[in-house]
Amino acid sequence: MTDSLQLGDGASVRPLEAGDAPGVLELIEQNRAHLDKWLRWSARVRALSDVTALIARFEAKQAAGDGFHWGIWQQERLAGGVICHYINRGDLNAELGYWLAADQTGRGLATRATACAVEHLLRQEQLHRIEMICGVANTRSRAVAERLGFTNEGVRRESYWITDRFADHVVYGLLAREWRRDQAPAEL
Ligand SMILES: CC(C)(COP(=O)(O)OP(=O)(O)OC[C@H]1O[C@@H](n2cnc3c(N)ncnc32)[C@H](O)[C@@H]1OP(=O)(O)O)[C@@H](O)C(=O)NCCC(=O)NCCS
Repeated sequence: MTDSLQLGDGASVRPLEAGDAPGVLELIEQNRAHLDKWLRWSARVRALSDVTALIARFEAKQAAGDGFHWGIWQQERLAGGVICHYINRGDLNAELGYWLAADQTGRGLATRATACAVEHLLRQEQLHRIEMICGVANTRSRAVAERLGFTNEGVRRESYWITDRFADHVVYGLLAREWRRDQAPAEL
């Protein structure tokens, strides 16, 4: 996917490009505590060169069919992103994650953008299974997975280093046959 996809209510997603780097860095800096508490990667993003490298890595992944990092826009304003960390073509599975600026939460942007990514991975890419890995205490993130019909498959103990500690994570899984179009928000 290279064009914007509309999510309804003036929201859209499209792959992040090099020109988005200053906006991404500004958003991360403005939301440092909110994001670093839960994300695996934001604490390592400190300079424009870090964001440029991050975007380039995901552009290369997308070109190779290995993943993507879409920006989420509300009108013209960057609000956050939805990340496909990898696509495993052998086993037909992938992992998704998401992030928003604190002042863009509470409107369904993460749920709608993630539904769009799930739809893309299951329909266009013909995958069999999608995973989301949410901090045990990250109730808002877990609510996104549950809202989209993902199943809680258990806890992976001390599974990722998050900023300054190993954290326990819930593995959420969704199989292609479990995805119903009506689980996605009506706007999609
Ligand atoms: C995780 C995170 C993206 C969730 O944000 P969020 O705003 O709770 O999630 P959504 O954008 O899907 O919004 C859901 C809320 O909007 C409401 N909403 C409004 N319109 C909606 C719609 N069309 N569809 C779904 N929900 C909608 C929901 O009822 C819900 O409200 P509630 O919080 O009062 O229950 C955000 O907290 C975040 O960025 N956290 C830091 C980074 C992080 O933890 N990332 C996940 C790592 S695993």
